[in-house]
Amino acid sequence: MNAKELKKKYFEFFKGKNHAFISSASLIPEHDPTVLFTTAGMHPLVPYFIGETHPAGKRLVNVQKCIRTGDIDEVGDPSHLTFFEMLGNWSLGDYWKKEAINWSYEFLTDKKWLGIDKNKLSFTCFKGDKDAPKDEESAKIWESLEIPKERIYFLPKEDNWWGPAGETGPCGPCTEMFYDTGKEKCSKDCKPGCSCGKYFEIWNDVFLEYDKKADGSFKTLKQKTVDTGMGVERAAAMLQGKKIVYDTEMFAPIIGKIKDNAKNQNEKSIEIIADHLKASTFILAEKITPSNLDQGYILRRLIRKSIRHFRLLGIEKENFTSEIAKIVIQTHKDSYSELNENKSFILDELKKEEKKFKRTLETGLREFNKLAKGEKITGKQAFILFSSYGFPIEMTEELAKEKNIELNKKEFEKEFEKHQELSRKGAEKRFKGGLSDSSEQSKKLHTATHLLNAALRIVLKNNNIIQKGSNITSERLRFDFNFDRKLTKEELKQTEDLVNEKIKESIPVKKEEMTLEEAKKRDARGVFEDKYKQKVSVYTIGDFSVEICGGPHVNNTNELGNFKIKKEESSAAGIRRIKAVFK
Ligand code: SER
Repeated sequence: MNAKELKKKYFEFFKGKNHAFISSASLIPEHDPTVLFTTAGMHPLVPYFIGETHPAGKRLVNVQKCIRTGDIDEVGDPSHLTFFEMLGNWSLGDYWKKEAINWSYEFLTDKKWLGIDKNKLSFTCFKGDKDAPKDEESAKIWESLEIPKERIYFLPKEDNWWGPAGETGPCGPCTEMFYDTGKEKCSKDCKPGCSCGKYFEIWNDVFLEYDKKADGSFKTLKQKTVDTGMGVERAAAMLQGKKIVYDTEMFAPIIGKIKDNAKNQNEKSIEIIADHLKASTFILAEKITPSNLDQGYILRRLIRKSIRHFRLLGIEKENFTSEIAKIVIQTHKDSYSELNENKSFILDELKKEEKKFKRTLETGLREFNKLAKGEKITGKQAFILFSSYGFPIEMTEELAKEKNIELNKKEFEKEFEKHQELSRKGAEKRFKGGLSDSSEQSKKLHTATHLLNAALRIVLKNNNIIQKGSNITSERLRFDFNFDRKLTKEELKQTEDLVNEKIKESIPVKKEEMTLEEAKKRDARGVFEDKYKQKVSVYTIGDFSVEICGGPHVNNTNELGNFKIKKEESSAAGIRRIKAVFK
């Protein structure tokens, strides 16, 4: 069964259980400052776990594009990918453990669906600790499906608990399903969760029933949510009897292309390139460009690392990154139309980045040769090559090896750490992976963002102004919009005044659900255009602002403080960025 058939069956199965299909959200979190990319299917849905009603209903099914940057260095093992797709079925305060587990089991084992031999499956449940009790309920449900007790394992939080991915928010015990590949146990204690390759994790049913508070305590959530996740690439590999995800049809054409052009066949390099350029293609499809900041920085790292591995494989072809991207687009365009829509952007950006990196390498090489006149390169010199010339340490290492020059890597690492220390504070939080900051303050700033959006159109007398990006922390809002020049002091002042006027008018913020057609008729703004096929949520603030938006928002503008613009600057060509606070 290929990935396409797997997805089709999954949707069909859950549609049969009254789930509404929703399309994948963007890879770039809409209002979540704590993380650069969407890391799991649950991520874009968090507002609906904490009280917002979803326009498509209480039972949802989807496949979500995900990026986990934490796994970048693990690439090359059988199952860790930077970009992956995750199937999920969701109950927003509707069904609970019994239905979720029974359906998972039916889908996995019934001949009509995946037809996996039930004797090869094992299950894990939460063992219990001071925060939450042992999950006997899930275990009992597995037993009622005639699973022998020996194949139900109880494991601690590290294995059988999900979330909160950030510091606070929805979380709860999970029960995981594993497939026994038939491999020998690696030790007496080998059991599901062990990474030796005997047990293949297929699916995770999470029962989000707790809310982790800032003080570390766990409170019961008002609404219980079922969040399940099945990694498409992994499940497809298992169903096809492949040991690694790279052997499936999702990767085969990419791997084939690399192999055809490589002078040597180092598997690890081939897999790194396949993984990184697939992830890069999907990030580019979100219109992110390589840069030294945020998502653009990760993108740059992925592309440049791939190019380094081209070298290791003896691939010298120009624009080879975009040739690989073409195959990624071809393989995935049916499920993700944004790939084809942004094809020329993707290919152009790859070409540009390849060129830039080549220049970096040339300059770096010149500097390296200057430094390497002696017999060794100090860690400090290697660090200068890295920090001032963008020359990756791996390149310095390679060249040093080639030329039989000694390199003090330890010293380099020390220098690197010192440098990291300085930039860590800001970055740490964001690379951790986290959920929306759902604090009251962010909610208020979110409503202010809508006011700002509408105010700009009026003050700048330009009805074509739309949101090009939004990022909200509990301290400030950041709003990007299309406009081709710097705003004047007067314009900023007028915008600020207009927003404050609307705050003082005490306008109720109203939420309605309607079809996309109706929303368009009301001239609703929004970047969610094709997100939900059936109904969308629309927030109106009097006759001042109408936006398609997932929320959450305050109930009345009078809950907001005094609005103050702190900064206005360019964020990209034709895009301005405003940062604002309450003061
Ligand atoms: N959130 C869980 C996971 O990512 C289940 O979807 O595994």
